[in-house]
Amino acid sequence: MTARLPRRPASAKATAARRSFGEGGSFSRGGRVLGVLALASVVALSGCARGCTSSRPPIHLNPSMDNQPKVLPQTASTFFYDGASMRQPVPGTVPIGGLKEDTAFFTGKGADGQFVATIPVTVNEALLERGRQRYAIYCQPCHDARGDGKGILFQRGNVPTASFHQEKIQKYPDGQIFDVITNGTGLMSGYRWPIPPADRWAIIAYVRELERKRLASATGAAKAPADNPAGTK
Ligand code: HEC
Repeated sequence: MTARLPRRPASAKATAARRSFGEGGSFSRGGRVLGVLALASVVALSGCARGCTSSRPPIHLNPSMDNQPKVLPQTASTFFYDGASMRQPVPGTVPIGGLKEDTAFFTGKGADGQFVATIPVTVNEALLERGRQRYAIYCQPCHDARGDGKGILFQRGNVPTASFHQEKIQKYPDGQIFDVITNGTGLMSGYRWPIPPADRWAIIAYVRELERKRLASATGAAKAPADNPAGTK
């Protein structure tokens, strides 16, 4: 920067002017040297701000958007009265595709708050087949293929697992079994998340089918061939 460009032979007028500013000229030269040194040190410093290991926090010449005054999900906030950074949805907000007005279908309870007596969807072969598959995945390990509760927990740990063929469960309204699958009961955990409501009803249809076949085979042994133990279906 201090290097002077080679000049063409200057005019006498310009040479005289330079001479008369001799003092000032040497002062400004010193200032320029200082400037270069300052710039060089800044460059050296900023060169080390990135890529160099240091135990000190990095120098932010341009903080840009590294630190933003924003709220993160699930964090506390001193701004709102309730101390939470996240806001509740406006009352009455409905998520897309999530309006659950059919309480019987989604909770197993009617408008009166009582368990619905029967499955609130049409029971057909397709539903039973779906239920058989879901039962095999989610219930069979513990309740066994026939619903006697002689699954792995009982075999290995002697854990009392409910049989579906006891009178108590036979008499449960369908909505109550829906509630057991959804929320669990006693030693059994809920299956709200892995099993969507439609599949819960399918499973219940299949459990009822297991019970019906067991009752039929108990009352009419002659019909045995048609009453293969459920689960071998
Ligand atoms: C991990 C093992 C396990 C799985 C899987 C399981 N259960 Fe259970 N279930 C149990 C046990 C243990 C009990 C007994 C709970 C108790 O009385 O403490 C039980 C009890 C029940 C009862 C009787 C509840 C009552 O009120 O007495 C029903 C009905 C039932 N299960 C249905 C199901 C259905 C339907 C599935 C499949 C979606 C299922 N269970 C999956 C272990 C399981």
